[in-house]
Amino acid sequence: MAVFLLCKYLYPGIKQTTSVNLPPGPTGCSLIMFLLQAFRNPIVALENAHKTFGDIYSVKIGPISMVIVNGIEAMTEVLVTNGKVFAGRPDLFVKLTGNDGQGLLTRQHDAAFITQRALVSKCLRCTGKEQLSLDARIQHATSQLIEWMDGKSCQLLDSSDASRYLQTTTANVVCSIAYGRQYCYTDSNFQHLISSMDEIFNSNPFRMIFQLARFFPYLTGTVFKELDLRTGIEKVAAYSETVINEHKITAAAAATRTTNKTNVQDIIDAFQTEQRKGGSDLSHFTDTQLVYLLCDMFVSGTETTTTSLNWALLYMAYYPEIQDRVQRELDKVFPKECVVTVVCREHMQSLPYTMATIMEVLRIRHVAYIGVPHCATKDTTLNGFHIPSGTMVITNFWSVHMNDKYWDNPLKFNPERMLGENGRIVTKKAFMPFGAGPRSCLGRHVAKAELFIIFSTLLHRYSYSLPINSPPSTLDPRIGISLTPKPYKLIVHRR
Ligand code: HEM
Repeated sequence: MAVFLLCKYLYPGIKQTTSVNLPPGPTGCSLIMFLLQAFRNPIVALENAHKTFGDIYSVKIGPISMVIVNGIEAMTEVLVTNGKVFAGRPDLFVKLTGNDGQGLLTRQHDAAFITQRALVSKCLRCTGKEQLSLDARIQHATSQLIEWMDGKSCQLLDSSDASRYLQTTTANVVCSIAYGRQYCYTDSNFQHLISSMDEIFNSNPFRMIFQLARFFPYLTGTVFKELDLRTGIEKVAAYSETVINEHKITAAAAATRTTNKTNVQDIIDAFQTEQRKGGSDLSHFTDTQLVYLLCDMFVSGTETTTTSLNWALLYMAYYPEIQDRVQRELDKVFPKECVVTVVCREHMQSLPYTMATIMEVLRIRHVAYIGVPHCATKDTTLNGFHIPSGTMVITNFWSVHMNDKYWDNPLKFNPERMLGENGRIVTKKAFMPFGAGPRSCLGRHVAKAELFIIFSTLLHRYSYSLPINSPPSTLDPRIGISLTPKPYKLIVHRR
């Protein structure tokens, strides 16, 4: 059955013609080898093909054409220089999420997208006069995490517990900005939302198959239906609808009491304010658009930061000398007895080594190692190759972050590489965890602030080490939709 399906869907790829100047790539047996390898380990498959075919190569599976882009030059061309032409999202990706191209992540790059992106970008900065600042929201979420860590009776931290509590913290930051509220860790509605994230990103080995299964319309529709992204997203969508309706009721009650004054505290308030303005150019400000926009915030903004923090703690346990240096730097800025949740972004300047450590974690274990798929919005060329309109374009961030052309000994965990001679952070072209150009990460300010505040707080208050008697943890990633740590155990000591 598997062989039949493979042949049925690969056949058009095997007989691929090269009448136009398409990028080279595996065909026939080498295509089958590539796919088998990709099922086992997508990174190895992508790296081998990179070595064989160069920075730009194509993979054609049945009716689906993909171009894989590697290295700084080609990635910059796709993301920035010719960014608008490559700013589409492929149909298949849109179908998989089941939101009909609404929201932001899967929306095509049109005028409506630009307006919506600008609105959300403003909300994510939380700079409104009457608004709670971004730092305050993160500090509040972090204080719940600290309460849980302080109350833990046992010093052993299991990766599933660590993930659950870090995820609860980062989800609370997103909920604060999106819904205007944070939740108690035991709130059942909230835990229901969090479990949807597991459904989307849960990296059991089948998810790896899903990586490729999603390129097979037949398989994604039937055999792998249970792996569809839609299940998790629908849960978040249903919850978002409830909160949107509550906001409507509150806004209506406020309108009977006050004048035209608006009190924008979150994304829903900002969106509904635009809805009330009306007008034909705001016709895309629909309730469905708002629902999927909130889903995007939740899906893109929770797992990414949680996994990066997870990696950061694991790397600290593996590299005690680096952990020690981070803690010494933190102790200079915050006396040991100080209330640690006072960490805020202003301290970034005074904590360059801590910043460098976070950046090095983002480089060596980049959670979004193959980004989000792009799509050519019209026929175009890339380094002289023809790229037909509608072609899916995959940006291989691993090929930049782990390339010895750009980094000395890229496999080595070395925060120093992010610092210049004066000890300050240096900007490196080959460091692009949040992508670049018109589709770059919309939440990067939030992510940077969260990683800094939560990591600094956790390192200032506790130390992390590997248990001596347990089976050794590993720094090898689980490779699924994202790069996540394999199960681990850490000893946590209150400092
Ligand atoms: C460590 C944390 C994070 C990393 C490494 C990360 C990385 C990325 C990357 C690589 C992309 C794809 C860029 C592209 O399509 O070329 C992306 C897109 C996106 N991210 Fe993030 N992200 C992080 C956190 C967040 C957070 C906290 C939020 C929201 C609160 C967020 C919201 C988004 C959205 C909405 C998009 C889609 C933008 C678009 O389609 O135009 N991300 N992110």
